[in-house]
Amino acid sequence: MNIDIYRMTIADYDEVAALWQGMDGVGLHDHEDSFEGIAAYLSRNPDMSFIARNNGRLVGAVLCGHDGRRGSINHLAVAPEFRKQNIGRTLVDRCLCELAKNGIRKCNIVVFRDNISGMEVWKKLGWNEREDLTFMQINTQR
Ligand SMILES: CC(C)(COP(=O)(O)OP(=O)(O)OC[C@H]1O[C@@H](n2cnc3c(N)ncnc32)[C@H](O)[C@@H]1OP(=O)(O)O)[C@@H](O)C(=O)NCCC(=O)NCCS
Repeated sequence: MNIDIYRMTIADYDEVAALWQGMDGVGLHDHEDSFEGIAAYLSRNPDMSFIARNNGRLVGAVLCGHDGRRGSINHLAVAPEFRKQNIGRTLVDRCLCELAKNGIRKCNIVVFRDNISGMEVWKKLGWNEREDLTFMQINTQR
């Protein structure tokens, strides 16, 4: 199968959003995942997020960035009919390569607890579950 990997640009937004929409395992937020939100993310983290295309059709996407200390990967997604063909692995590898080039030594992900197959994928890709940590969050606009 012919799969091409490209750096994500905001011009890809409509196709990427359509891929993510309604996909189990991908939690979308009105503000952060809007056109403006993704544009801001890509401009803050240039050249670190990727898409996969099959004969021009967008079939995979991933967001990647860092805060200067740790990397983070979000919204890894591959179209159902293109799964289990190493597209997810390739997208993640490209992200990790960019993080390493930027001097970032570790990368974090957050996985929904009920995303059992997603967890399996991350483990097969070599990621370790940190059982000593609990993810916490607060709203800054109170
Ligand atoms: C997670 C996802 C992106 C994986 O994409 P993919 O292109 O199918 O992954 P790959 O083909 O690169 O597979 C990577 C590894 O995971 C394994 N794998 C893939 N799907 C799997 C599944 N459903 N269950 C168990 N293992 C799986 C592959 O066999 C491969 O391991 P191997 O190299 O040891 O054989 C895809 O399943 C998806 O879009 N899921 C819905 C969204 C989601 O949950 N995203 C993650 C958010 S945290």
